[in-house]
Amino acid sequence: MSSGHSTYTPKTGIERWFDARMPLPRLVHDSFVSYPVPRNLNYAYTFGGILAIMLVAQIITGVVLAMHYAASTGVAFNSVEKIMRDVNSGWLLRYMHSNGASFFFIAVYIHIFRGLYYGSYKAPRELLWILGCIIYLLMMATAFMGYVLPWGQMSFWGATVITGFFTAIPLVGEWIQQLLLGGFAVDNPTLNRFFSLHYLLPFMIAGVVVLHIWALHVTGQTNPTGIEIKAKTDTLPFTPYATIKDAFGMIVFLAVFAYFIFYIPNYLGHPDNYIEANSLKTPAHIVPEWYFLPFYAILRAVTFNIGPIDSKLGGVLAMFGAIAVLFFVPWLDTSKVRSAVYRPLYKFFFWLFAFNALFLGWLGSRPAEGVYVVLSQASSLFYFAFFLIIMPVLGLIETPKRIPNSITEAVLEKNRRTTPENVERVGAE
Ligand code: HEM
Repeated sequence: MSSGHSTYTPKTGIERWFDARMPLPRLVHDSFVSYPVPRNLNYAYTFGGILAIMLVAQIITGVVLAMHYAASTGVAFNSVEKIMRDVNSGWLLRYMHSNGASFFFIAVYIHIFRGLYYGSYKAPRELLWILGCIIYLLMMATAFMGYVLPWGQMSFWGATVITGFFTAIPLVGEWIQQLLLGGFAVDNPTLNRFFSLHYLLPFMIAGVVVLHIWALHVTGQTNPTGIEIKAKTDTLPFTPYATIKDAFGMIVFLAVFAYFIFYIPNYLGHPDNYIEANSLKTPAHIVPEWYFLPFYAILRAVTFNIGPIDSKLGGVLAMFGAIAVLFFVPWLDTSKVRSAVYRPLYKFFFWLFAFNALFLGWLGSRPAEGVYVVLSQASSLFYFAFFLIIMPVLGLIETPKRIPNSITEAVLEKNRRTTPENVERVGAE
Protein backbone atom coordinates (compact mmCIF):
# COMPACT_ATOMS: atom_id res chain seq x y z
CA MET A 1 0.00 0.00 0.00
CA SER A 2 2.97 2.26 -0.04
CA SER A 3 3.67 4.67 -2.84
CA GLY A 4 7.04 5.53 -4.28
CA HIS A 5 10.39 3.87 -3.87
CA SER A 6 10.85 1.26 -1.12
CA THR A 7 13.43 2.12 1.55
CA TYR A 8 13.26 -1.25 3.27
CA THR A 9 16.41 -3.34 3.72
CA PRO A 10 15.91 -6.73 5.39
CA LYS A 11 18.44 -7.14 8.20
CA THR A 12 18.01 -10.63 9.63
CA GLY A 13 17.91 -13.99 7.85
CA ILE A 14 14.19 -14.40 8.59
CA GLU A 15 13.43 -10.95 7.12
CA ARG A 16 15.39 -11.82 3.95
CA TRP A 17 13.54 -15.17 3.73
CA PHE A 18 10.15 -13.44 3.93
CA ASP A 19 11.17 -10.63 1.60
CA ALA A 20 12.02 -13.11 -1.16
CA ARG A 21 8.71 -14.96 -0.79
CA MET A 22 6.01 -12.59 0.47
CA PRO A 23 7.33 -9.09 1.25
CA LEU A 24 4.82 -8.33 4.00
CA PRO A 25 7.40 -6.73 6.34
CA ARG A 26 8.44 -4.49 3.41
CA LEU A 27 4.81 -3.46 2.87
CA VAL A 28 4.34 -2.66 6.56
CA HIS A 29 7.64 -0.78 6.73
CA ASP A 30 6.94 1.29 3.61
CA SER A 31 3.33 2.01 4.62
CA PHE A 32 3.60 2.63 8.35
CA VAL A 33 7.24 3.28 9.24
CA SER A 34 9.14 5.20 6.59
CA TYR A 35 6.01 6.48 4.84
CA PRO A 36 6.35 10.28 4.54
CA VAL A 37 3.53 12.33 6.07
CA PRO A 38 3.14 16.12 6.01
CA ARG A 39 4.89 17.63 9.04
CA ASN A 40 1.93 19.84 9.97
CA LEU A 41 -0.84 17.25 10.52
CA ASN A 42 -3.06 18.18 13.47
CA TYR A 43 -5.24 16.01 15.72
CA ALA A 44 -8.14 16.08 13.25
CA TYR A 45 -5.97 13.74 11.18
CA THR A 46 -5.85 11.09 13.91
CA PHE A 47 -9.47 10.06 13.37
CA GLY A 48 -8.75 7.73 10.44
CA GLY A 49 -6.59 5.62 12.77
CA ILE A 50 -9.20 5.89 15.53
CA LEU A 51 -11.83 4.60 13.08
CA ALA A 52 -9.65 1.63 12.20
CA ILE A 53 -9.34 0.75 15.92
CA MET A 54 -13.09 1.13 16.43
CA LEU A 55 -13.85 -1.14 13.47
CA VAL A 56 -11.61 -3.86 14.88
CA ALA A 57 -13.15 -3.44 18.37
CA GLN A 58 -16.67 -3.71 16.94
CA ILE A 59 -15.80 -6.87 15.01
CA ILE A 60 -14.15 -8.56 18.01
CA THR A 61 -16.91 -7.71 20.51
CA GLY A 62 -19.57 -8.53 17.90
CA VAL A 63 -18.15 -11.96 17.11
CA VAL A 64 -18.07 -12.87 20.83
CA LEU A 65 -21.59 -11.51 21.41
CA ALA A 66 -22.81 -13.65 18.50
CA MET A 67 -21.59 -16.74 20.37
CA HIS A 68 -24.26 -16.10 23.00
CA TYR A 69 -26.98 -14.39 21.00
CA ALA A 70 -30.01 -16.27 19.60
CA ALA A 71 -31.61 -14.80 16.46
CA SER A 72 -35.16 -15.97 17.02
CA THR A 73 -38.04 -13.68 17.96
CA GLY A 74 -39.09 -15.90 20.90
CA VAL A 75 -35.71 -15.79 22.62
CA ALA A 76 -33.67 -12.89 21.17
CA PHE A 77 -34.59 -10.37 23.89
CA ASN A 78 -33.92 -12.84 26.69
CA SER A 79 -30.66 -14.02 25.14
CA VAL A 80 -29.42 -10.41 25.33
CA GLU A 81 -30.53 -10.19 28.98
CA LYS A 82 -28.68 -13.43 29.61
CA ILE A 83 -25.55 -11.92 28.07
CA MET A 84 -25.93 -8.97 30.45
CA ARG A 85 -26.42 -11.08 33.60
CA ASP A 86 -24.99 -14.58 33.16
CA VAL A 87 -22.23 -14.51 30.57
CA ASN A 88 -18.80 -13.72 32.02
CA SER A 89 -18.09 -10.04 31.24
CA GLY A 90 -21.13 -10.14 28.95
CA TRP A 91 -22.30 -6.73 30.19
CA LEU A 92 -18.91 -5.28 29.24
CA LEU A 93 -18.99 -6.82 25.78
CA ARG A 94 -22.49 -5.55 25.13
CA TYR A 95 -21.83 -2.04 26.42
CA MET A 96 -18.58 -1.88 24.43
CA HIS A 97 -20.45 -2.93 21.30
CA SER A 98 -23.53 -0.69 21.68
CA ASN A 99 -21.55 2.38 22.80
CA GLY A 100 -18.88 1.41 20.29
CA ALA A 101 -21.38 1.93 17.48
CA SER A 102 -22.06 5.45 18.74
CA PHE A 103 -18.37 6.26 19.12
CA PHE A 104 -17.68 4.83 15.67
CA PHE A 105 -20.20 7.33 14.31
CA ILE A 106 -18.77 10.20 16.39
CA ALA A 107 -15.36 9.42 14.88
CA VAL A 108 -16.71 9.08 11.34
CA TYR A 109 -18.58 12.40 11.57
CA ILE A 110 -15.43 14.19 12.79
CA HIS A 111 -13.51 12.44 9.98
CA ILE A 112 -16.03 13.53 7.32
CA PHE A 113 -16.24 17.10 8.63
CA ARG A 114 -12.44 17.27 8.72
CA GLY A 115 -12.53 16.26 5.03
CA LEU A 116 -15.08 18.96 4.24
CA TYR A 117 -13.07 21.61 6.12
CA TYR A 118 -9.71 20.88 4.56
CA GLY A 119 -11.07 20.03 1.09
CA SER A 120 -9.66 16.49 1.34
CA TYR A 121 -12.04 15.29 -1.38
CA LYS A 122 -10.51 17.48 -4.09
CA ALA A 123 -8.48 16.02 -6.96
CA PRO A 124 -6.63 13.71 -6.91
CA ARG A 125 -8.46 12.28 -3.85
CA GLU A 126 -11.98 11.93 -5.32
CA LEU A 127 -11.88 8.14 -5.28
CA LEU A 128 -10.60 8.11 -1.72
CA TRP A 129 -13.59 10.25 -0.74
CA ILE A 130 -16.06 8.08 -2.68
CA LEU A 131 -14.71 4.94 -0.99
CA GLY A 132 -15.29 6.77 2.30
CA CYS A 133 -18.90 7.48 1.30
CA ILE A 134 -19.39 3.78 0.53
CA ILE A 135 -18.00 2.89 3.97
CA TYR A 136 -20.40 5.38 5.54
CA LEU A 137 -23.38 3.82 3.72
CA LEU A 138 -22.32 0.34 4.80
CA MET A 139 -21.91 1.59 8.38
CA MET A 140 -25.46 2.95 8.36
CA ALA A 141 -26.89 -0.34 7.05
CA THR A 142 -24.88 -2.32 9.63
CA ALA A 143 -25.97 -0.10 12.53
CA PHE A 144 -29.61 -0.14 11.46
CA MET A 145 -29.70 -3.95 11.33
CA GLY A 146 -27.72 -4.33 14.55
CA TYR A 147 -30.22 -2.18 16.42
CA VAL A 148 -33.01 -4.63 15.53
CA LEU A 149 -31.22 -7.63 17.08
CA PRO A 150 -31.98 -7.04 20.83
CA TRP A 151 -35.65 -7.23 19.79
CA GLY A 152 -36.79 -4.38 22.02
CA GLN A 153 -39.67 -2.03 21.28
CA MET A 154 -37.50 0.47 19.37
CA SER A 155 -35.81 -2.36 17.47
CA PHE A 156 -39.15 -3.64 16.25
CA TRP A 157 -40.87 -0.34 15.54
CA GLY A 158 -37.78 1.30 14.07
CA ALA A 159 -37.46 -1.61 11.64
CA THR A 160 -41.19 -1.40 10.84
CA VAL A 161 -41.03 2.34 10.09
CA ILE A 162 -37.82 2.27 8.05
CA THR A 163 -38.66 -0.78 5.95
CA GLY A 164 -42.14 0.73 5.47
CA PHE A 165 -40.60 3.70 3.65
CA PHE A 166 -39.47 1.45 0.81
CA THR A 167 -43.11 0.94 -0.17
CA ALA A 168 -43.11 4.58 -1.33
CA ILE A 169 -40.91 3.61 -4.29
CA PRO A 170 -43.17 3.11 -7.33
CA LEU A 171 -43.50 -0.37 -8.89
CA VAL A 172 -40.71 -2.16 -7.01
CA GLY A 173 -41.22 -0.66 -3.52
CA GLU A 174 -43.37 -3.41 -2.04
CA TRP A 175 -41.17 -6.08 -3.55
CA ILE A 176 -38.07 -4.49 -1.93
CA GLN A 177 -39.87 -4.26 1.40
CA GLN A 178 -40.86 -7.92 1.32
CA LEU A 179 -37.34 -8.90 0.33
CA LEU A 180 -35.97 -6.99 3.34
CA LEU A 181 -38.55 -8.40 5.73
CA GLY A 182 -38.68 -11.94 4.38
CA GLY A 183 -42.45 -11.65 4.61
CA PHE A 184 -45.14 -9.05 5.08
CA ALA A 185 -44.17 -7.73 8.51
CA VAL A 186 -41.12 -7.55 10.78
CA ASP A 187 -40.87 -11.09 12.15
CA ASN A 188 -38.60 -14.06 12.58
CA PRO A 189 -37.31 -14.14 8.96
CA THR A 190 -36.50 -10.41 9.28
CA LEU A 191 -34.51 -10.97 12.47
CA ASN A 192 -32.64 -13.85 10.85
CA ARG A 193 -31.62 -12.00 7.74
CA PHE A 194 -30.70 -8.88 9.69
CA PHE A 195 -28.47 -10.96 11.95
CA SER A 196 -26.82 -12.63 8.98
CA LEU A 197 -26.21 -9.32 7.21
CA HIS A 198 -25.15 -7.57 10.42
CA TYR A 199 -22.41 -10.20 10.74
CA LEU A 200 -21.38 -9.93 7.09
CA LEU A 201 -21.31 -6.18 6.46
CA PRO A 202 -18.48 -5.24 8.88
CA PHE A 203 -16.16 -7.53 6.91
CA MET A 204 -17.22 -5.78 3.73
CA ILE A 205 -16.47 -2.47 5.47
CA ALA A 206 -13.03 -3.83 6.37
CA GLY A 207 -12.49 -4.69 2.68
CA VAL A 208 -13.45 -1.19 1.55
CA VAL A 209 -11.22 0.29 4.29
CA VAL A 210 -8.27 -1.57 2.74
CA LEU A 211 -9.09 0.07 -0.62
CA HIS A 212 -9.54 3.43 1.17
CA ILE A 213 -6.07 3.24 2.71
CA TRP A 214 -4.57 1.97 -0.52
CA ALA A 215 -5.99 5.00 -2.36
CA LEU A 216 -4.73 7.22 0.47
CA HIS A 217 -1.22 5.90 0.13
CA VAL A 218 -1.20 6.53 -3.59
CA THR A 219 -2.21 10.20 -3.33
CA GLY A 220 -0.71 10.85 0.11
CA GLN A 221 -2.45 12.76 2.88
CA THR A 222 -3.49 16.37 2.62
CA ASN A 223 -2.67 18.68 5.50
CA PRO A 224 -4.22 21.80 7.07
CA THR A 225 -2.67 24.11 4.45
CA GLY A 226 -4.07 22.06 1.56
CA ILE A 227 -0.70 22.46 -0.23
CA GLU A 228 0.75 19.27 -1.70
CA ILE A 229 4.12 17.96 -0.55
CA LYS A 230 6.84 19.64 -2.64
CA ALA A 231 10.09 18.76 -0.92
CA LYS A 232 11.41 16.21 1.56
CA THR A 233 11.52 18.97 4.21
CA ASP A 234 7.70 19.16 4.05
CA THR A 235 7.44 15.64 5.48
CA LEU A 236 8.34 13.49 8.46
CA PRO A 237 8.47 9.69 8.60
CA PHE A 238 5.18 8.10 9.75
CA THR A 239 6.98 6.38 12.64
CA PRO A 240 7.60 7.75 15.21
CA TYR A 241 5.92 11.12 14.48
CA ALA A 242 2.42 10.17 13.21
CA THR A 243 2.36 6.92 15.20
CA ILE A 244 2.85 8.77 18.50
CA LYS A 245 0.32 11.46 17.63
CA ASP A 246 -2.24 8.85 16.50
CA ALA A 247 -1.61 6.81 19.67
CA PHE A 248 -2.20 9.85 21.88
CA GLY A 249 -5.39 10.75 19.98
CA MET A 250 -6.61 7.16 20.37
CA ILE A 251 -5.89 7.08 24.12
CA VAL A 252 -7.88 10.29 24.73
CA PHE A 253 -10.74 9.04 22.53
CA LEU A 254 -10.77 5.63 24.22
CA ALA A 255 -10.73 7.30 27.67
CA VAL A 256 -13.97 9.13 26.83
CA PHE A 257 -15.35 5.89 25.38
CA ALA A 258 -14.48 4.08 28.63
CA TYR A 259 -16.22 6.79 30.64
CA PHE A 260 -19.43 6.07 28.74
CA ILE A 261 -19.08 2.29 29.09
CA PHE A 262 -18.38 2.32 32.83
CA TYR A 263 -20.36 5.32 34.08
CA ILE A 264 -23.22 6.11 31.69
CA PRO A 265 -23.61 2.99 29.52
CA ASN A 266 -27.27 3.63 28.67
CA TYR A 267 -27.00 7.37 28.12
CA LEU A 268 -27.06 7.07 24.33
CA GLY A 269 -29.71 4.33 24.23
CA HIS A 270 -33.48 4.52 24.38
CA PRO A 271 -35.32 3.21 27.49
CA ASP A 272 -38.03 1.63 25.29
CA ASN A 273 -35.48 -0.84 24.00
CA TYR A 274 -35.43 -2.45 27.44
CA ILE A 275 -39.03 -3.50 26.81
CA GLU A 276 -39.46 -6.61 24.69
CA ALA A 277 -40.88 -6.04 21.17
CA ASN A 278 -44.66 -6.02 21.10
CA SER A 279 -46.38 -5.77 17.74
CA LEU A 280 -49.64 -4.71 19.42
CA LYS A 281 -48.20 -1.73 21.30
CA THR A 282 -46.79 1.20 19.31
CA PRO A 283 -44.44 3.48 21.31
CA ALA A 284 -45.51 7.14 21.63
CA HIS A 285 -42.49 8.39 19.64
CA ILE A 286 -40.46 6.17 17.36
CA VAL A 287 -36.95 7.60 17.12
CA PRO A 288 -33.85 6.10 15.57
CA GLU A 289 -30.39 6.14 17.18
CA TRP A 290 -28.86 9.64 17.49
CA TYR A 291 -26.55 9.20 14.50
CA PHE A 292 -29.50 8.87 12.11
CA LEU A 293 -31.47 11.80 13.50
CA PRO A 294 -30.42 14.48 10.94
CA PHE A 295 -31.55 12.21 8.10
CA TYR A 296 -34.72 11.33 9.97
CA ALA A 297 -35.50 15.06 10.22
CA ILE A 298 -34.97 15.45 6.46
CA LEU A 299 -37.22 12.44 5.79
CA ARG A 300 -40.06 13.93 7.84
CA ALA A 301 -39.57 17.48 6.54
CA VAL A 302 -41.38 16.66 3.28
CA THR A 303 -45.00 16.97 4.33
CA PHE A 304 -46.38 18.05 0.94
CA ASN A 305 -46.76 16.51 -2.51
CA ILE A 306 -44.45 17.74 -5.29
CA GLY A 307 -46.35 17.19 -8.56
CA PRO A 308 -46.72 13.44 -9.07
CA ILE A 309 -44.41 12.71 -6.11
CA ASP A 310 -46.38 12.24 -2.91
CA SER A 311 -45.00 13.39 0.44
CA LYS A 312 -43.92 9.89 1.49
CA LEU A 313 -41.87 9.29 -1.64
CA GLY A 314 -40.61 12.89 -1.47
CA GLY A 315 -39.33 12.28 2.07
CA VAL A 316 -37.58 9.07 1.08
CA LEU A 317 -35.99 10.75 -1.96
CA ALA A 318 -34.86 13.70 0.18
CA MET A 319 -33.31 11.36 2.76
CA PHE A 320 -31.44 9.28 0.20
CA GLY A 321 -30.57 12.47 -1.71
CA ALA A 322 -28.98 13.90 1.44
CA ILE A 323 -26.56 10.97 1.48
CA ALA A 324 -26.16 10.71 -2.30
CA VAL A 325 -25.09 14.34 -2.60
CA LEU A 326 -21.95 13.52 -0.58
CA PHE A 327 -20.68 11.39 -3.49
CA PHE A 328 -20.63 14.45 -5.76
CA VAL A 329 -18.84 16.84 -3.39
CA PRO A 330 -15.49 16.61 -5.26
CA TRP A 331 -17.21 18.11 -8.31
CA LEU A 332 -19.59 20.48 -6.53
CA ASP A 333 -16.75 22.41 -4.90
CA THR A 334 -15.40 24.61 -7.70
CA SER A 335 -12.72 26.39 -5.66
CA LYS A 336 -9.09 26.15 -6.73
CA VAL A 337 -8.04 26.50 -3.10
CA ARG A 338 -8.31 23.34 -1.06
CA SER A 339 -8.26 24.27 2.63
CA ALA A 340 -10.86 26.38 4.47
CA VAL A 341 -7.93 28.00 6.32
CA TYR A 342 -7.46 30.28 3.27
CA ARG A 343 -11.17 30.56 2.37
CA PRO A 344 -12.87 32.99 4.79
CA LEU A 345 -16.32 32.74 3.20
CA TYR A 346 -16.27 28.98 2.89
CA LYS A 347 -15.07 28.73 6.49
CA PHE A 348 -18.08 30.76 7.62
CA PHE A 349 -20.53 28.59 5.66
CA PHE A 350 -18.79 25.41 6.78
CA TRP A 351 -19.44 26.25 10.44
CA LEU A 352 -22.99 27.24 9.62
CA PHE A 353 -23.41 23.86 7.94
CA ALA A 354 -21.94 22.04 10.94
CA PHE A 355 -24.31 23.89 13.29
CA ASN A 356 -27.22 23.16 10.93
CA ALA A 357 -26.37 19.44 10.94
CA LEU A 358 -26.51 19.40 14.75
CA PHE A 359 -29.75 21.35 14.67
CA LEU A 360 -31.23 18.84 12.19
CA GLY A 361 -30.24 16.08 14.59
CA TRP A 362 -32.08 17.81 17.42
CA LEU A 363 -35.14 18.33 15.20
CA GLY A 364 -35.09 14.63 14.32
CA SER A 365 -35.55 13.82 18.01
CA ARG A 366 -38.64 16.07 18.31
CA PRO A 367 -42.16 14.98 17.35
CA ALA A 368 -43.01 15.81 13.71
CA GLU A 369 -45.55 18.54 14.44
CA GLY A 370 -46.04 22.31 14.62
CA VAL A 371 -42.98 24.53 14.53
CA TYR A 372 -40.60 21.55 14.39
CA VAL A 373 -41.83 20.71 10.89
CA VAL A 374 -41.25 24.25 9.62
CA LEU A 375 -37.78 24.36 11.21
CA SER A 376 -36.95 20.94 9.72
CA GLN A 377 -37.97 22.20 6.29
CA ALA A 378 -35.79 25.33 6.56
CA SER A 379 -32.89 23.34 7.95
CA SER A 380 -33.16 20.63 5.25
CA LEU A 381 -33.26 23.34 2.59
CA PHE A 382 -30.02 24.80 3.93
CA TYR A 383 -28.45 21.31 3.98
CA PHE A 384 -29.04 20.92 0.24
CA ALA A 385 -28.27 24.56 -0.55
CA PHE A 386 -24.85 24.17 1.06
CA PHE A 387 -23.84 21.47 -1.39
CA LEU A 388 -25.79 22.44 -4.49
CA ILE A 389 -25.55 26.25 -4.41
CA ILE A 390 -23.07 27.56 -1.84
CA MET A 391 -20.21 25.16 -2.67
CA PRO A 392 -20.26 25.71 -6.46
CA VAL A 393 -20.90 29.46 -6.28
CA LEU A 394 -18.39 30.28 -3.53
CA GLY A 395 -15.60 28.68 -5.51
CA LEU A 396 -16.24 31.17 -8.31
CA ILE A 397 -16.74 34.38 -6.34
CA GLU A 398 -14.57 34.03 -3.24
CA THR A 399 -11.20 35.79 -2.94
CA PRO A 400 -8.95 33.45 -0.97
CA LYS A 401 -6.21 34.57 1.40
CA ARG A 402 -2.55 34.43 0.37
CA ILE A 403 -1.37 30.83 0.27
CA PRO A 404 2.16 30.01 1.47
CA ASN A 405 4.55 28.57 -1.11
CA SER A 406 5.05 25.34 0.77
CA ILE A 407 4.11 23.37 3.88
CA THR A 408 7.51 24.19 5.38
CA GLU A 409 7.01 27.90 4.78
CA ALA A 410 3.56 27.74 6.46
CA VAL A 411 4.98 25.88 9.48
CA LEU A 412 7.94 28.23 9.87
CA GLU A 413 5.70 31.26 9.44
CA LYS A 414 3.42 29.99 12.22
CA ASN A 415 6.36 29.22 14.51
CA ARG A 416 7.86 32.61 13.79
CA ARG A 417 4.69 34.23 15.06
CA THR A 418 3.97 32.01 18.03
CA THR A 419 7.28 31.28 19.78
CA PRO A 420 7.42 33.62 22.82
CA GLU A 421 10.67 35.30 21.78
CA ASN A 422 9.16 36.13 18.41
CA VAL A 423 5.75 37.38 19.45
CA GLU A 424 7.14 40.74 20.51
CA ARG A 425 9.39 41.12 17.46
CA VAL A 426 6.70 40.14 14.91
CA GLY A 427 4.21 42.40 16.69
CA ALA A 428 6.63 45.27 16.29
CA GLU A 429 7.24 44.55 12.57
C1 HEM B 1 -14.33 2.66 8.89
C2 HEM B 1 -14.30 3.86 8.44
C3 HEM B 1 -13.05 4.58 7.99
C4 HEM B 1 -11.74 4.30 8.25
C5 HEM B 1 -11.17 3.14 9.07
C6 HEM B 1 -10.95 5.33 7.59
C7 HEM B 1 -9.57 5.37 7.61
C8 HEM B 1 -8.82 6.45 7.16
C9 HEM B 1 -7.43 6.68 7.46
C10 HEM B 1 -6.55 5.76 8.33
C11 HEM B 1 -7.08 7.84 6.87
C12 HEM B 1 -5.73 8.53 6.99
C13 HEM B 1 -5.66 9.29 8.32
C14 HEM B 1 -6.57 10.48 8.37
O1 HEM B 1 -6.48 11.34 7.48
O2 HEM B 1 -7.41 10.56 9.29
C15 HEM B 1 -8.21 8.33 6.14
C16 HEM B 1 -8.23 9.44 5.33
C17 HEM B 1 -9.32 9.89 4.62
N1 HEM B 1 -10.62 9.43 4.75
FE1 HEM B 1 -11.21 7.83 5.82
N2 HEM B 1 -11.78 6.19 6.93
C18 HEM B 1 -13.08 5.80 7.17
C19 HEM B 1 -14.21 6.42 6.71
C20 HEM B 1 -14.25 7.52 5.87
C21 HEM B 1 -15.44 8.19 5.39
C22 HEM B 1 -16.85 7.78 5.78
C23 HEM B 1 -15.03 9.20 4.56
C24 HEM B 1 -15.84 10.19 3.77
C25 HEM B 1 -17.07 10.13 3.45
C26 HEM B 1 -13.59 9.19 4.52
C27 HEM B 1 -12.79 10.04 3.77
C28 HEM B 1 -11.43 10.16 3.90
C29 HEM B 1 -10.61 11.11 3.18
C30 HEM B 1 -11.08 12.10 2.11
C31 HEM B 1 -9.29 10.93 3.63
C32 HEM B 1 -8.06 11.71 3.19
C33 HEM B 1 -7.85 12.81 4.16
C34 HEM B 1 -6.76 13.74 3.78
O3 HEM B 1 -5.67 13.30 3.46
O4 HEM B 1 -7.04 14.94 3.85
N3 HEM B 1 -13.15 8.17 5.33
N4 HEM B 1 -9.27 7.47 6.35
